[in-house]
Amino acid sequence: MSEDPTPELFDKIVNLSKRRGFVFPSAEIYGGFRSTYDYGPLGVLLLRNVKDAWWRSMVQLRDDVVGLDASILGPPQIWEASGHLANFTDPLVDCTNCKMRWRLDKLDDPDLCPNCGQRGAFTEPRAFNLMFKTHAGPVEDTGAVAYLRPETAQGMFVNFANVLNTSRKRPPFGIAQVGKSFRNEITPGNFVFRTREFEQMEMEFFVPPPEAQQWYEYWCAERFRWYLELGMPADQIRLRPHDADELSHYSSGTSDVEFLFPWGWDELEGIANRGDYDLTQHANHSGQRLDYLDPVTNERYVPHVIEPAAGATRTAFAFLIAAYVEEEVRGEQRTVLRLHHRIAPYKVAVLPLSKKAELAGPAKELYRLLAERWMCDYDDTQSIGRRYRRQDEVGTPYCVTFDFDSLDDQAVTVRDRDSMEQERVPIDGLVDYISAHLN
Ligand code: GAP
Repeated sequence: MSEDPTPELFDKIVNLSKRRGFVFPSAEIYGGFRSTYDYGPLGVLLLRNVKDAWWRSMVQLRDDVVGLDASILGPPQIWEASGHLANFTDPLVDCTNCKMRWRLDKLDDPDLCPNCGQRGAFTEPRAFNLMFKTHAGPVEDTGAVAYLRPETAQGMFVNFANVLNTSRKRPPFGIAQVGKSFRNEITPGNFVFRTREFEQMEMEFFVPPPEAQQWYEYWCAERFRWYLELGMPADQIRLRPHDADELSHYSSGTSDVEFLFPWGWDELEGIANRGDYDLTQHANHSGQRLDYLDPVTNERYVPHVIEPAAGATRTAFAFLIAAYVEEEVRGEQRTVLRLHHRIAPYKVAVLPLSKKAELAGPAKELYRLLAERWMCDYDDTQSIGRRYRRQDEVGTPYCVTFDFDSLDDQAVTVRDRDSMEQERVPIDGLVDYISAHLN
């Protein structure tokens, strides 16, 4: 796969997202709001499927990871202990010529304003804290200051003892969480890639210190495998270990899962060996014990943490890009999203050949039967060919057509999105047929 930028692909995805109801600019009727986005009827399904696939792999299929849903609002003490109040900053420069603001570390040339082209017009960089600050309660005094979490991770650290005491887990074990995080990014952009409000999928895996390196390698491999299993093409994804000068102050090893976006390689997920930094910080700041007493060896230790931290919104976007294909079929162009069935918004579309009541009645019944198990669409508008194309464009793996023959032979035509092959399937075997193909 060529690594050249593909801005036309980016435009097509943004266009498809809006046109088909994946992603809308937020508050659009008021002119939009500062790089925030709303997930439409298809986008909410896609995003939910990405999060569910992550949860399935990280929590459901494992006996060593449990879930958590911690609060978004938190007191300053959490962020003091975590280091976010002091360190979660980006270097901000203002162009004195055009007044645009930039993140210095993201500029190609640190002396050149990308907006007006002026050289040497930047102010001295200042550290800009990315956390959103607010007040809990009616009084806006310092005692009421709260922050919206900039990552879900701290919820797992501050609940370490709660989970340890209630779940009967012992290291090595993990706590996983999916949820919204907020960062006042100086330069959000590239559609939903970098936004101020986004969703993360993070897991903190607590291990005996001597096992940290081995678990770090395990999670790098395991997380990389997850993307491949869900259909990411191997030439569009890579695992890149950080250089020493890129590592955070607490990390002894970090690797990024990167995806080949239309503008080049960029991060989907970071897997970090965080040592005992977080638990030690919170123990020191809270005065609470955050360690583990091994009942077998009687040894007390602070577990080390391996953290796979992924972005849900960013990953859903990457799946859309990776799935987008334009191809020619019998002289006509078709656009198809070759999404893995687990990620596809709809699994099945039920298409009655005609709107007539004699077909619509049983077709609706069929829809209700399938909708018990899968997210389905029902579409009775326009020609069957156009309906197939519409489902292809949003990645629906199977279309089920109910026609006049179905009334006699009690069978339907099932069309496969990728091969476009059609098969006649008896209605009483349809659920089994689709189940077998979706597994
Ligand atoms: N707890 C570690 C942590 O939060 P991070 O690399 O800052 O690490 C993890 O964030 C993931 O969250 C990133 O790899 C990215 O996918 C997603 N993410 C971070 N900032 C984002 C933003 N402004 N917009 C969308 N996704 C973001």
